[in-house]
Amino acid sequence: MPESTRSQEPLIVIVSNRGPYSFTANEDGTFDIQRGSGGLVTALGALAEKHEVLWVASAMSKDDRAWAEQHQGTAVDVDDIFLRLITPRARQYELYYNVIANPLLWFIQHELWNIPRTPSITADTWRAWKRGYTAVNRQFAEAIAESIGDVQRPVIVLPQDYHLYLLPAFLRDLVGDRVQIQPFVHIPWPGIDAWRILPGQMRDEILTSMLKSDRVGFQTTKDAFNFVQNCRFYLPDVHSRGTRDTLFHGGKETRALAYPISVDVERTQRLVEEPQTKLLKSQLISVIGDQRLILRVDRIEPSKNILRGLEAFATLLDSYPEYRGKVKMLALLVPSRLEVDEYQDYLRDIMAQAGLFNAQYSDPFWEPIRVIVGDHYHRAIAAMQLYDVLLVNPIADGMNLVAKEGVLVNEKDGSLILSEHAGAFYELHEDALVVSPFDVHGTAEAIHQALSMPPEERRLRAENLRSVVQNAGVQHWFDDQVRDALAAFASHVSSSSTSSTPSANKSAASPTDAGAPSPTTATPKE
Ligand code: ADP
Ligand code: G6P
Repeated sequence: MPESTRSQEPLIVIVSNRGPYSFTANEDGTFDIQRGSGGLVTALGALAEKHEVLWVASAMSKDDRAWAEQHQGTAVDVDDIFLRLITPRARQYELYYNVIANPLLWFIQHELWNIPRTPSITADTWRAWKRGYTAVNRQFAEAIAESIGDVQRPVIVLPQDYHLYLLPAFLRDLVGDRVQIQPFVHIPWPGIDAWRILPGQMRDEILTSMLKSDRVGFQTTKDAFNFVQNCRFYLPDVHSRGTRDTLFHGGKETRALAYPISVDVERTQRLVEEPQTKLLKSQLISVIGDQRLILRVDRIEPSKNILRGLEAFATLLDSYPEYRGKVKMLALLVPSRLEVDEYQDYLRDIMAQAGLFNAQYSDPFWEPIRVIVGDHYHRAIAAMQLYDVLLVNPIADGMNLVAKEGVLVNEKDGSLILSEHAGAFYELHEDALVVSPFDVHGTAEAIHQALSMPPEERRLRAENLRSVVQNAGVQHWFDDQVRDALAAFASHVSSSSTSSTPSANKSAASPTDAGAPSPTTATPKE
């Protein structure tokens, strides 16, 4: 897009802990670039290809930090994204990411705690809250404020996810009302009982900060509703009226809205055509042979419910021995957050369980379960084309993009088994086979139903699922949020003739001066 046109557009600032790329240093001072993993990066990475975006993320490794230091705190154009990495000290980052964000907040929001025993909020947790989570959120806010400097056109700041709940308050203090702050929460927002685990002070800081935003986006209306209820219940002087999607507090309004995230339909379909995907697909075909395929594709993550999925497969083999030798379960699993004990334990349990089931059920010609551990997006897409059954059975999941990617690229009229606690349930439930993630027996029966379904029913369901996803790609998700932010700018400008709020018609800074501070700008103080 020519710069002259782009300069009329708002500057979109995406802020997330994990950036779109991670870096590996080479000996000659150059860096190899890899795509970041997880649903957030999958969805937002696609958008950044089409819009001018400044993306502020955190260095997550030594090599990321080296890349950031080489660029001295400036934003750098990497594949058309202006990327700036903040560089918290390693210890600070550890406290923020491995003590507070994962597991504490993630576990609360996915309701994973075993509350008679865990968590224990100790003095160390409080230290991590202040010196890790709070400090890193402040650094993010300072980096954004510095990067947007005196940009004249509308600036829309989109903080992503549970790592950044304190960012709206810090940023508002630094930049006032001239920017729209619109966080999006990718994970479930549970009701007031789940949040009682968090000490009142931490909870109030989170909720109060989120209310410094103009709008808060959620995956489903249920999550938005729960957020409103939490604010009303836990904070004094917060009210909602009418449709219950607007909170009034201290003279300000904050809306809580659902914007269900999706995949980039064209980009995902293009991936299918890439030579690497085709090669991996033919390799997988030789592994699968003429067996029917039950597939799962997940981060190794307790909320994904991988153990009960294995158990359901074993139950199927017990209840319907005729499937032995004819059906294979393939689990493509990405290692995730291994610094957190619960994740390491979970990986160990999965490998042990899969090994035990293979020992119990295999014969000389048949291996019932194959687990492939590794982050390989092309392989994941190749496998999704081949499934007869896609098992998506999380205990809780903000959306679950695998469900959407799967139904989009599958070539076998495969069935989708979908947990009623995945955000994707609300869009896909009519043609999926819906299960309770806790019901192992019910999940085994759903697999049987999928494998024995008449071809015409399979085809119809698969077509319907595909068209739901095709008609609501990630572009809608993004456009809806930007549209709402721009509408707010417009009403702000029209209601205040003296306002200094930037307008879309003002002459604008160039893409680089908008996105990137000058090379002489100092790296934010660590
Ligand atoms: P989450 O965000 O919790 O990880 P999602 O299903 O929303 O879950 O998104 C996960 C993203 O990561 C999807 O784009 C998916 O294709 C990708 N992914 C998941 N597992 C793998 C894997 N084993 N290899 C490569 N990519 C994967
Ligand atoms: C989920 C979260 C994202 C996160 C991703 C991968 O999708 O919602 O915020 O980036 O998991 O997790 P990680 O901790 O590896 O970034």
